[in-house]
Amino acid sequence: MEILVYPDEQLKLESQPVEEFGQQFQDFIDRLEQTRLAGPGAVGIAAPQVGQPIRAVIVDVSRMKRPVANHGHLVLVNPEITEWEGYETGREGCLSVPDYTGNVIRARQIVLQAQDRHGKIHRYEMEGFEARAVQHEIDHLDGLLFIDRVVSRRSDIFQRKNYK
Ligand code: NI
Repeated sequence: MEILVYPDEQLKLESQPVEEFGQQFQDFIDRLEQTRLAGPGAVGIAAPQVGQPIRAVIVDVSRMKRPVANHGHLVLVNPEITEWEGYETGREGCLSVPDYTGNVIRARQIVLQAQDRHGKIHRYEMEGFEARAVQHEIDHLDGLLFIDRVVSRRSDIFQRKNYK
């Protein structure tokens, strides 16, 4: 699937909850994962990035060069952060903002509740880069990009030569 790129107006939409976990949704999740893997190896992708304004994201930080605490490959449906703890600044990139990275302040630890691709509810305690990736992807569901989160567009956004 094609990835929408800033400033596409569809990236600003508030996404709707997923209520049907049937074959059509399963096929969509498979195609979303293929799209994530077809690119430069993004750690996450959100449904609205391919023009589907529904509350589903995929996050997988298990293959980082430097290992980080993680829960492996996650399909997160209707995710809700229920607790936040601490703050730290870190560098983020996004398939929808391919030419830039940015310094963004995020909670260091979160408690997350989400359904899996079959609708089963799970609770996760996350920290560090995985927690950051999840916060980034949930922002997509609320129509926000990392460039909307930087403190200063002049000093906290950096041009990159090529993705990754
Ligand atoms: Ni993104």
